[in-house]
Amino acid sequence: MSSTLQARPVTTVLAVRPTISLSPHPEGITVTGVGWEQLVAVSSPGVRDAVLSVRESPMPSSEILRRALEASGDLSAAVLVQSVVKRLSVLGVFEHVLFEPGNGAVARLMTAGAMPVGLSALPPDARLRVLSPMAVATVRAGEVVVESGVSHLQVALRPDLFALVVAGDLDALPDPVLAMLCTARLLVTPEETASRRFRQWDATDLWFHRKANESRGADGYGGTYHLADDFKPVPYARPVPPGGSLALPVPDLAQARAADPPLAEVMERRRSHRRFLAGRTSQEQLGALLYRALRARQIHPDDRGLDVVDRPYPSGGSVHEIETYVVVNDVTGIEAGIYRYAPDRHALDVLQQNDAIRARVNADVMITTRGEQPPPVVLLFGARFDRLMWKYQGMPYALLTKHVGVVYQTIYVNAEAEGLGVCGIGGTSASLFAQATGEHPMDEGAVGMMVLGVPDPSERDAWGRP
Ligand SMILES: Cc1cc2nc3c(=O)[nH]c(=O)nc-3n(C[C@H](O)[C@H](O)[C@H](O)COP(=O)(O)O)c2cc1C
Repeated sequence: MSSTLQARPVTTVLAVRPTISLSPHPEGITVTGVGWEQLVAVSSPGVRDAVLSVRESPMPSSEILRRALEASGDLSAAVLVQSVVKRLSVLGVFEHVLFEPGNGAVARLMTAGAMPVGLSALPPDARLRVLSPMAVATVRAGEVVVESGVSHLQVALRPDLFALVVAGDLDALPDPVLAMLCTARLLVTPEETASRRFRQWDATDLWFHRKANESRGADGYGGTYHLADDFKPVPYARPVPPGGSLALPVPDLAQARAADPPLAEVMERRRSHRRFLAGRTSQEQLGALLYRALRARQIHPDDRGLDVVDRPYPSGGSVHEIETYVVVNDVTGIEAGIYRYAPDRHALDVLQQNDAIRARVNADVMITTRGEQPPPVVLLFGARFDRLMWKYQGMPYALLTKHVGVVYQTIYVNAEAEGLGVCGIGGTSASLFAQATGEHPMDEGAVGMMVLGVPDPSERDAWGRP
């Protein structure tokens, strides 16, 4: 740390966050964030202008108060200033900044979105605390942003201060930095780190969980089309690959409507199957299942040019980023290999064939289902991140995991009606998926797997169901 920081008593000032703008309104102050706007009523123009002066240069709240009292000449302005600053803080307008004279900002307590930001007093035990095991640090030019899923608050530190935090040299940090770290729950007691609550979480899981599930916690959350100005949307339909394509049989839906078991029967009969009969799964069954569960019925561009798709199962924004790869081991009428289901053409597109990769996929699913033979079919599900993330911000990954669940259940119930058995699988292998499909893992990646085939009736049901 620089000697100036050690030598001088330092205090924080309020600064308007870069993604927020404040503007005067006849009835107060208009606050504009990313994708939202709100009027904060201020009855006195003098107080309003004093608060707005923070736009020109960061200042302590005491300076805003001084300016308001000077402009209004009325002591009651003090109460009004406090309530306006509090209201703006609740909307996440300010960050608390610690400046080192002559050297710019060294630490900032901040948030994203429209969440409250307030700096708490330094707790007496601050220097006995430890860096939270939930802390996640990301880098920006010139600073390290430290946060955790325990709080929506972030602390941006100059790298030399971050190094002191990591080294546990808390005595070398100025009080306001310690106060920021405690406020953001980044310095915690040793007892907390040993608690069940902390030990059950992985830091990045908790961080991701909060980020994906805090709708007011991001500058841009939901279907913002944030990349629309810079990139074209990725079309839904994919061309037939060089290896060709295999048309699948189309089931007779009119007959299925008449002959299918009722939904109540299907739901009551549904169960997971992990053992299958050899040589019994047909291309008609596979084609019928894929058609009934996963085909595309219509495709149209939405008003921003993104293809939206009508399929038998629902999908947020109708983007339908889940793609199905079919690993065929034992299906009459279809050569063993790795295929991609083309929902718009109801066909299996032939991918580059590699028996070693197919064997590794089979080994993977046999471990997780304790299978002795490769299942007739393995379904590998990928998510086309490049389609989903062109539109959605802040929560697209969480959204696609919900879609995987929708796909699993749709396949479970349709398999019952086709005399097929399936079992969902919780894990998957990103690297194996990339090798099997040839897709760049940042464009499309593994999000699920299922095994599928005609069930072996001798398989014992784990629940003792008939
Ligand atoms: C998302 C998901 C993941 C699953 N993962 C596995 C798995 O990795 N291995 C396995 O043998 N079964 C797996 N299953 C099947 C469950 O174990 C099964 O649904 C549960 O035991 C209830 O039995 P039932 O489906 O027969 O009603 C999974 C099911 C789902 C929905």
